Amino acid sequence: MSIPNIEKEVDRRRTFAIISHPDAGKTTLTEKLLLYGGAIHLAGAVKAKKNQKNTTSDWMELEKQRGISISTSVLQFDYGGDQINLLDTPGHKDFSEDTYRTLTAADAAVMLIDAAKGVEPQTRKLFEVCRMRGLPIFTFINKFDRPSREPLDLLDELEKVLGIRSCPMAWPIGSGDRFRGVYDRLSNEFMVFNTGGIANQSGRLEAKKFSSASDPELLKSLSGPRDDLDEAKVLYDQFKEEIELLEFAGDPFDHAQVLAGKLTPVFFGSAMNNFGVERFLQRFIELAPRPVAREVAGDEGKKTISPTSDQFSGFIFKIQANMDPMHRDRVAFMRICSGKFERNMEVTHARLEKKVKLSKPLNFFAQERVIIDEAWPGDIVGMLDTTGELRIGDTFCSTGNGFKAFEYQGVPRFSPEHFAGVVIKDPMKRKQLQKGLEQLSEEGVVQIYRQRGMGDKDPVLGAVGALQFEVLQHRLLGEYGVDTKIEKHNFIHARWVVGPDLKAEEFDRREDTRCMEDRDGQPVILFKSDWSLRWAVENHKTLQFVTTAPEVRGTGKKK
Ligand code: G4P
Repeated sequence: MSIPNIEKEVDRRRTFAIISHPDAGKTTLTEKLLLYGGAIHLAGAVKAKKNQKNTTSDWMELEKQRGISISTSVLQFDYGGDQINLLDTPGHKDFSEDTYRTLTAADAAVMLIDAAKGVEPQTRKLFEVCRMRGLPIFTFINKFDRPSREPLDLLDELEKVLGIRSCPMAWPIGSGDRFRGVYDRLSNEFMVFNTGGIANQSGRLEAKKFSSASDPELLKSLSGPRDDLDEAKVLYDQFKEEIELLEFAGDPFDHAQVLAGKLTPVFFGSAMNNFGVERFLQRFIELAPRPVAREVAGDEGKKTISPTSDQFSGFIFKIQANMDPMHRDRVAFMRICSGKFERNMEVTHARLEKKVKLSKPLNFFAQERVIIDEAWPGDIVGMLDTTGELRIGDTFCSTGNGFKAFEYQGVPRFSPEHFAGVVIKDPMKRKQLQKGLEQLSEEGVVQIYRQRGMGDKDPVLGAVGALQFEVLQHRLLGEYGVDTKIEKHNFIHARWVVGPDLKAEEFDRREDTRCMEDRDGQPVILFKSDWSLRWAVENHKTLQFVTTAPEVRGTGKKK
């Protein structure tokens, strides 16, 4: 017997993350999306977070000092009967491995691009993670109210820099102070941008719509505040030329290709002016995937679990310590993958082969937490980890009644770009340091690489974002009583090595490379320059230099 309503609940869920470079407008877009979800009173919370006075814990203190937000939030809202789960990907200075890991819990990504800047470095890195997972990507090109690059040029960049084909679902008319609106290619409607527009009650700018290009009012509406009909004509002619070019030479829309992550639908607008955002949200909901079946780890082949299975399952993609300023607690974030989640349900923790009761499942909105009673595939649930036993990548599932425990593919470790050594101020604290490093690296705060044959002596720490070292230092002091100094190394890349014939000494002999071991004893090469990485790749054809740790099953099992 299948679970009542499960098809419907799965069908109405969309779980996604926004990937962008700082300043592209992610906070602004998020606020507007929340607004459509009727969460207006909460929308301000995204920014208000910075000013909250929860300063009792060291953790919050670090946030306050740096004016950033380290705590994760999962924003959940309802739009037209659909349940949207927006996973907040830490950005800015707090960019870290967590940002990448969050993408493993998403079913789609929205790639937000600044129309004046195009594809920027952080977007590119995040895009690579999405591509690795085959995530469908929806592109929103923002800030058309500012002078922008030519839209065709931006599409070209998507293809050249990211290697993804694109299909514009809309097309902009002008940009900057000559931005006149957007044409919706699916519905053949013109939406005219009117900076003098009056926001309605929900804060939306009224967009004027035209259903045909021959509408005599259209040119007038494109003539802008100066009523410049000649300019309107020039803009319109250019628009027509571009649209014809797209029809002739552009990639046609192909939903299967979108779902395979090979074609990105592109939208244009201005998040700040709330222009093009709602249309984008509607199309996104139509086209983005519902929670899909996920692969189970193991040798038996590509077994997947359907979200509508009767067996409950989920995996942990992130662990956050000290979220509650009043308590030193750890919250593990679980993405639900199949079945129905109910409060107090008893499930099996697959790695520890142990039954646990999920008694205090939490839902988060910014820093508020609410206990929830039920949740469905696609939802994210926070759980207090009172024993400190949970690890990133752990699977929970219901067992019995013919259901066996299983584990999902793990959450990969991503190659760091910042490296450092750690020095203790008091040599008597070596043991505590080791314990702290061990535990905090299992939590994913930093990665640890050991020198071959040197045991725990002088490990190199790796991080995706430099702030991770500060967090480590802070927590070593606060939770393990160890005062440390972080000494930066000048490596800039790390690659796991796959394949036979690795001669570690060859890399150790060189001044600009070093061969280390990760926590599972797998070889990792550190590089000091782009050049040395290229040298390695070109001169070792039998080896692969990969950016995520190859999965080692069976490690991290019961300890
Ligand atoms: P982020 O989270 O991606 O870092 O970006 P955020 O939303 O904070 O936006 C970065 C800046 O870009 C903000 O300006 C924001 O107002 C502006 N912005 C976002 N969307 C648009 C848009 O569509 N058009 C224009 N013209 N600007 C946009 P700020 O001056 O840094 O901050 P604020 O004082 O406006 O908050």
